[in-house]
Amino acid sequence: MERIPEPELMEKKEQVISYDEADFSEGEINLINQINHYLLRKNISLGEKDLIVDLGCGPGNISEKLAIKWPNTEVIGIDGSKEMILRAEQKKIFSTNQKGLKNLRYICSEIKDIKSNNFLLKKKISLLVSNSLIHHITHLEDFFNTIRSLSSNITVNFHKDLKRPLDEKSALELKAECSTKYNEILTNDYYASLRASYTFKELKNFILENDLSSLDVFEDGDKYLIVYGNV
Ligand SMILES: C[S@@+](CC[C@H](N)C(=O)[O-])C[C@H]1O[C@@H](n2cnc3c(N)ncnc32)[C@H](O)[C@@H]1O
Repeated sequence: MERIPEPELMEKKEQVISYDEADFSEGEINLINQINHYLLRKNISLGEKDLIVDLGCGPGNISEKLAIKWPNTEVIGIDGSKEMILRAEQKKIFSTNQKGLKNLRYICSEIKDIKSNNFLLKKKISLLVSNSLIHHITHLEDFFNTIRSLSSNITVNFHKDLKRPLDEKSALELKAECSTKYNEILTNDYYASLRASYTFKELKNFILENDLSSLDVFEDGDKYLIVYGNV
């Protein structure tokens, strides 16, 4: 199936509300566990000196879980959508777990502007994460250039995203499955995201052709891809 890009930022209020109100917790917990296992395997433990950055953080679902999992480590969630950041900040303010989120803050910025905005440079990033971001990025080089510019020799990258279905029929089946759990706005967004996603081959080829051989990509089940490693 050919890739059909979708808008990068999620800025429509009803789109943001639908996304925020949906329960994706099973997948989110799974991602935190995957990151934790990967760090354990690499003998990396995160502490006060470290910095975790969650790119395309949306309403902060993953950022919050990262902050709770690594309570002594500063976590910064970054998104280019003002609506999303507003939502993330409100969730943090009204959270019943204020204490657990005191190491978390948010920044509104497009990923390509992070470095030049000089937001983060006080510390090197130890863990650079994203979930469901890559498919929003129109040109793959914009994603990889960003993670390259934000990474140093200590940065572990872990980026999970949808995998583009093989054909339209499979995409429509996944859309129908989604509609049994989520509302129409979210179902349509999910379908657009499936069509905008990259394939294993596209990501792997990009890595190989652009001197990023310390990164790798693997298929996580039949719906997801994970790009991980160092840059
Ligand atoms: C599908 S949501 C995922 C949100 C969150 N990572 C999660 O897993 O719940 C994708 C998010 O990436 C953000 N995004 C897309 N392109 C971006 C860009 N170029 N710069 C910054 N944020 C971007 C969107 O605004 C949106 O909030």
